[in-house]
Amino acid sequence: MIDQIKNLRIEIEQALNAVDTIESLEKFRLTHLVKKGTLQALFDQLKSVSPEEKPLAGKEINLLRQFAESEFKSRKENFENSAQSSPDIDLSLPGRTGFAGSIHPIRQTLDEMVAVFESMGFAIAEGPEIEDGYHNFDALNFQPDHPARDMQDTFFIKSDKELLLRTHTSPVQIRVMQSQKPPIRCIMPGRVYRNEAISVRSLAEFHQIEGLYIDKNVSFAELKATMMVFAKRMYGENSKFRFRPSYFPFTEPSAEMDISCFLCGGKGCRVCKHSGWLEICGCGMVHPNVLKSGGIDPEEFTGYAFGFGIERVALLRTGIDDLRALYENDIRILNQF
Ligand code: DAH
Repeated sequence: MIDQIKNLRIEIEQALNAVDTIESLEKFRLTHLVKKGTLQALFDQLKSVSPEEKPLAGKEINLLRQFAESEFKSRKENFENSAQSSPDIDLSLPGRTGFAGSIHPIRQTLDEMVAVFESMGFAIAEGPEIEDGYHNFDALNFQPDHPARDMQDTFFIKSDKELLLRTHTSPVQIRVMQSQKPPIRCIMPGRVYRNEAISVRSLAEFHQIEGLYIDKNVSFAELKATMMVFAKRMYGENSKFRFRPSYFPFTEPSAEMDISCFLCGGKGCRVCKHSGWLEICGCGMVHPNVLKSGGIDPEEFTGYAFGFGIERVALLRTGIDDLRALYENDIRILNQF
């Protein structure tokens, strides 16, 4: 009997070694572990074994059965796990690549504009986005009751009526004049805020580049020449632009510069309000009161200033016809620039 058990153990071990698929494992079970299997056949034989041999034989068969069952179980689990965790792997599939970021069209436009002005000798200055009423309005010659104050709907900071989100980059002019002596030639790029209904043409948060040049005998002709050089560098020698008289409290005389609408080629579209022209810049000769606010003597110095909206220029560069698209951060749009 003991010999039989030993032989069956050898047989079982060999069978286990040969198991390589879930099917052959099942065959192993049907041969050895079921009621009509080899192990049960040995158990059945125990009845006819002599009483002396019985305890040892019984123990050996039990051990063999435990061994066979636990080996069966662990192999079954292995097959099941590997079936779950490694489905057929297709090594020819393309790998997952990360997204490469790109510079946002507004930043690209700003960088390009800054580069053009830097090449003309302008330095860069910056000021705070949270401004006080003095720098944003009063020092720029906005009278307290002047309707011009309403031209720009302002976000005030509730806790302090004096503080507001700057409505333009012009207050940086004052800060620059207060901290530098003429000749001053700098540009001041940055983010500005207005309480406006968001539409194709306007946003509540956008960017401007302010420019300021102060020296002795600065003339309007110099302002015009600078604007024209800038426009030609940005849009090409053949670009069309025009100056219109305008009004700003901080410049006298004041003008606005328009560029012929890139999107419709001047025919008229929703972005240019069907006029064929897009206003890209306000400008003028710095008002004597503004020079005084900055601590500069208007009898001795004159200067010009200008302010560009960057988003408008970005639209022209990219051909996007809706300002909002620049802020939605839709990768499908941004990827194109
Ligand atoms: N601050 C003006 C605005 O936001 C733009 C502007 C106009 C700036 C004329 C200037 C300027 O420096 O001279 O609409």
